Amino acid sequence: MIKKLLAVSISLTICMIIPASVHAEGDAQAGKQHAAACAGCHGDSGNSIVSTFPKLAGQHFSYLTKQLQAFKNDTRNAPMMAPLAKGLTDKDIADIAKFYSEQTISANPMPTLKGQDHEVESNKHSDNKNKETELKALLTFGGDLYRNGDLEREVSACIACHGPFGEGNKPAGFPMLKGQHADYLIQTLEDFKTSTRTKVADNMMHMIATKMTEKEIRAVSYYISVMK
Ligand code: HEC
Ligand code: HEC
Repeated sequence: MIKKLLAVSISLTICMIIPASVHAEGDAQAGKQHAAACAGCHGDSGNSIVSTFPKLAGQHFSYLTKQLQAFKNDTRNAPMMAPLAKGLTDKDIADIAKFYSEQTISANPMPTLKGQDHEVESNKHSDNKNKETELKALLTFGGDLYRNGDLEREVSACIACHGPFGEGNKPAGFPMLKGQHADYLIQTLEDFKTSTRTKVADNMMHMIATKMTEKEIRAVSYYISVMK
């Protein structure tokens, strides 16, 4: 037993001194340099300005590396990202993921409703008070779905995997969602639903998004975008 423990501790020590362990964890300083090529779309510190480009700041290391690998091996379909990811080595990916995971995500302003968000046609042109009431109702609907899901239609509660504050689950590699742009969230949920984001059939989000209505997708995305 003691011999075994000794052997384990020696091999752990060896693991810690060989450079491969640095590689697996990433070097944020090197990552920052690589990320200069990404800043045009994702912002200097991973807070993108354009709302269809996802924010990367504060996202979990494990999720970022998984997505970059998925762009690289074409299991996540994204015409803008694939050619860029194919030019990155595993070490580059780890370094970049480390850099973004250490940044802080910025808060979003309250969402502005668009044409298709108005259930009452006349509200499209009505005063701000009606619009505010409608936005509140949509956020409440989205928050309810986030926390409770829809049992009858088998839409799982988002909170179970993405956490009470939208912080995700680091050990499980479930992404943080809070503070993400609503337009990106809507787009990517639609892409899961239509198998555009990934053709991997047992992707958890594909199975969930397939059951979501258009209204649920928009409402939960608005809700998540202003979670703190
Ligand atoms: C021309 C604009 C553009 C550039 C430059 C760019 N990206 Fe992206 N990135 C996108 C878009 C658009 C998406 C969303 C892809 C999709 O789902 O269709 C994305 C998605 C991602 C995602 C997934 C985020 C998530 O929440 O799932 C990561 C990670 C990422 N990019 C990293 C990078 C890195 C690292 C670089 C630099 C090497 C980079 N990007 C450069 C446009 C860009
Ligand atoms: C059983 C766990 C689980 C549940 C429940 C769940 N998710 Fe997810 N979610 C995941 C996983 C895992 C991923 C990463 C998928 C991938 O790698 O392609 C993800 C990814 C996402 C993304 C993409 C994030 C990004 O940055 O691109 C969004 C948006 C999302 N989930 C929204 C939701 C919403 C809304 C709900 C509730 C209706 C929900 N999720 C319920 C596990 C879950």
